[in-house]
Amino acid sequence: MVDLHTSCQKDLLKEFDQNNAKYRSQTTGLSRVSTQGSRLSCPGPALTRLSSNTTDNQSRQSIKTQDSRQTVEDRKPMTFAGEKIIGNGSFGVIYQARVAETGEVVAVKKVYQDRRYKNRELQIMQEINHCNIVTLKYSFLTHDSPEEVYLNLVMDYVPETIYRVFKQYKKQKQHFPPLLIKLYSFQMFRALAYLHSLNILHRDFKPQNLLVDKMSHILKVCDFGSSKKLNKGENNVAYICSRYYRAPELVFGSTNYDGAIDVWSAGCIIGELLLGEPLFPGDSTMDQMIEIIKKLGTPTQEEILEMNPKAQQQKFPKIPPKPWSKVFKTKVDPLVLDLLEKVLMYNPHKRLTAVEALAHPYFDELRDEGCKVDGKDLPNLFDFSQQEIGAIQPDLYEKIVPSWARMSKSRFSHPLKQQQK
Ligand SMILES: Nc1ncnc2c1ncn2[C@@H]1O[C@H](COP(=O)(O)OP(=O)(O)OP(=O)(O)O)[C@@H](O)[C@H]1O
Ligand SMILES: [Mg+2]
Repeated sequence: MVDLHTSCQKDLLKEFDQNNAKYRSQTTGLSRVSTQGSRLSCPGPALTRLSSNTTDNQSRQSIKTQDSRQTVEDRKPMTFAGEKIIGNGSFGVIYQARVAETGEVVAVKKVYQDRRYKNRELQIMQEINHCNIVTLKYSFLTHDSPEEVYLNLVMDYVPETIYRVFKQYKKQKQHFPPLLIKLYSFQMFRALAYLHSLNILHRDFKPQNLLVDKMSHILKVCDFGSSKKLNKGENNVAYICSRYYRAPELVFGSTNYDGAIDVWSAGCIIGELLLGEPLFPGDSTMDQMIEIIKKLGTPTQEEILEMNPKAQQQKFPKIPPKPWSKVFKTKVDPLVLDLLEKVLMYNPHKRLTAVEALAHPYFDELRDEGCKVDGKDLPNLFDFSQQEIGAIQPDLYEKIVPSWARMSKSRFSHPLKQQQK
């Protein structure tokens, strides 16, 4: 057992705040991120103790609890038993671990801190609290050496990703069940509507970053390593988002984008689940644009300027748009085609917002009180918080939340409607 310093998240912020790193791992091996003396980072039944009874100042700090999201004094030692590696991302290693004192299974993301770059992942995860987003339970620092500091983010553990479930269906030569596509898509847009209400862009929405529980069919977005809270007037880098899911305004180099980039990615994911393969599989940045053009047709000059007013003149082959019904090999629900057409638009200002997408008739089936999945009730899709409700216009709210869900709990009715009563 090894004593590690617990550290309150506030202090982490003070210490590392804007200067911290997003570590793009050069190596994928354990050695790069292993904690000397600590076996947290090793697979197998190793134990690492988070102790608060040292004399170090940090030991008197506090950590955040999951439920209240309040900062509380925590003097109890916590022991993490690292069980196995569950992800080897570009920015760190993710372990499944067990908290010995409580028995809870958690996921720990361990990222190297490099003072040359900003690390916003912790700050953003601390701000968010949503049923379709993975929860940050605790965070702490580990040191491999005085210079090498790692931030460990402890999250709730969700067993699968959409990516893996998709591959399982493919292997069995089966289609992804249409009702599941609808259910997951609704939860994707709900998470995005919430994030965008806080001015947070995810910026790396892709099947690998969407965790799902195959029993409850609850979806949770993870990986806030590329996310950013937008600041008015501040430019944002265009080189973000995994290529297949990258919105065309990013390909055109826009630095003044908004939530429409995440909505585009969500559209690509829905299209991929329907098609059985990526919708726009570009093998380079420019090829990405060609793949988009093959389906959406060549963008007009006006559309290019809407994507990026500073876009340089580029010559693309003149290709007409392909009807969405022809993109898919099998017959697809016309409502989902209509949704895709409105979500995968060149002009980001005309693209549906995440809130508008939630109100689309494609999701009406989920609003039916009797709708079941695998013979079971759906997870609660309509327990909108005040933060979420505040970002939805009253007329859209009535479309999104069915009357039976509004009636069952008066607190779910829109505040503007309540005032009118
Ligand atoms: N809370 C969690 N529960 C279960 N698995 C998780 C959890 N968080 C992450 N994972 C797994 O670890 C993988 C990598 O996590 P994450 O995307 O946060 O890391 P990353 O280094 O930013 O990865 P990349 O840059 O490749 O997207 C995820 O695709 C998922 O398979
Ligand atoms: Mg990821």
